[in-house]
Amino acid sequence: MLTAYDFPSSKQAEQAGLDIILVGDSLGMTVLGYESTVQVTLDDMKHHGKAARRGANDTFMVVDMPFGAAGVDEKIDMQHAIELYRETKANALKIEGAHTAPLIKKCTQNGIPVVAHLGLTPQSFGITGYKLQAASKEEAETLIEEAKLVQQSGAVMLVLEAIPSDLAATISRNLSIPVIGIGAGADTDGQVLVYHDVLNYGVDRKPKFVKRYGDFTTGVDALKAYHEEVKAGIFPSPEFTYKKQIMDEVDA
Ligand code: KIV
Repeated sequence: MLTAYDFPSSKQAEQAGLDIILVGDSLGMTVLGYESTVQVTLDDMKHHGKAARRGANDTFMVVDMPFGAAGVDEKIDMQHAIELYRETKANALKIEGAHTAPLIKKCTQNGIPVVAHLGLTPQSFGITGYKLQAASKEEAETLIEEAKLVQQSGAVMLVLEAIPSDLAATISRNLSIPVIGIGAGADTDGQVLVYHDVLNYGVDRKPKFVKRYGDFTTGVDALKAYHEEVKAGIFPSPEFTYKKQIMDEVDA
């Protein structure tokens, strides 16, 4: 699984043969320049989800329910879920936190597949901070119970973020739904990373669990070269200019 937030990135993910595209609310930081995912709105998710779908029609696409859109009021949450699912043509919605189990159940009963997200849930960073979760015996036991709860509520998949790898392995073994890890070690059923982290594209921080597979920072050199060539009169050369001459025919 890889995040993608727009037409070109989802198209690339599909061309690369990724199994699942996640239109994650991490787009708040990676493409909208917000400080956290808390600023991301339902309209942001609809806008990006629709664009990502246009780039990747044939890939299973999951769209995040943003902060405040789920787990607050059951009736309104459900309305948000229906709109997001319908308008983005997502294959599933991702919802953070075990407290959303009733909504997972309701979505499932109404035909909307849900991917649950436990461990570090970035929408709650104000409470948890951005750090390893479930690092004590009690927290680990709670997480195991929460994982069972979201599966029982109907989740079709579970994302586990920033937890000890042996705990992630145990949860993966004990659940029948696929478990996708990020910062959760190698023994989950799959992995997810953020597009901009993988490609070193406009990101300043590198969390421990991120591996870079490309380097978009070279884009800045390309933009500098373009700027220099225009200033120096090198671009556009004849190669980049239409051959057709018209001024012989024009009275000017
Ligand atoms: O929004 C996101 O990108 C995510 C992943 C980090 C799992 O939720």
